[in-house]
Amino acid sequence: MSHVKDSHKIRTLIDAATLDKRVTELAAQIDRDYAGGDGLVAVGVLKGAIYFFTDLTRRLTVPVTVDFFQTSSYGSGTSAGEVRIKRDIDMSIRGRDVLLVEDIVDTGWTLRTILDLFRFRGARTVRLCALLDKHEAREVDVPIDYSGFRIGRDFVVGYGLDYDERYRNLPDIGVVEFDEGRQEA
Ligand code: IMP
Ligand code: MG
Repeated sequence: MSHVKDSHKIRTLIDAATLDKRVTELAAQIDRDYAGGDGLVAVGVLKGAIYFFTDLTRRLTVPVTVDFFQTSSYGSGTSAGEVRIKRDIDMSIRGRDVLLVEDIVDTGWTLRTILDLFRFRGARTVRLCALLDKHEAREVDVPIDYSGFRIGRDFVVGYGLDYDERYRNLPDIGVVEFDEGRQEA
């Protein structure tokens, strides 16, 4: 199935039912790993992770507090030392078990940067949960403890992910099929 939305053709890659099933599995795995502890601080990376974050955290039964972090990078791509903090978390994470929840790991610089910062601040543990892993695009190693799906290098949208702030609310994840010869911003 493919949709034409605002002039972009979007080919479904992972449908809503498949996403839902995988999120449930990830939540069960996280629940098992954190069982018996004093709970976790779930930190969602804005804005892309919001749909995944809310679906995931509402399925957890271990005690959870939620917080958010927002980054941006200079220019179009992400690279070393160029991840800017747009919004920091509100809570202290010293001595806490932190679960960092991200939509997609591409070069790896965003998660690497936040992971190092949270460790520096004295979190007891920091684990990474990412819905999508663009493994072939990795420039820096990041240990993904909970990974939803491995995908190729195609640009994807939906379920929180955007192209120029559009398509975040699509229920499926789809590949944007850019027209040959048409200039994209
Ligand atoms: P990084 O390169 O691993 O630092 O990823 C940076 C950010 O780029 C991710 O958190 C996403 O917000 C964004 N990104 C990377 N690939 C895609 C994509 O295919 N669609 C939408 N956003 C993406
Ligand atoms: Mg993101």
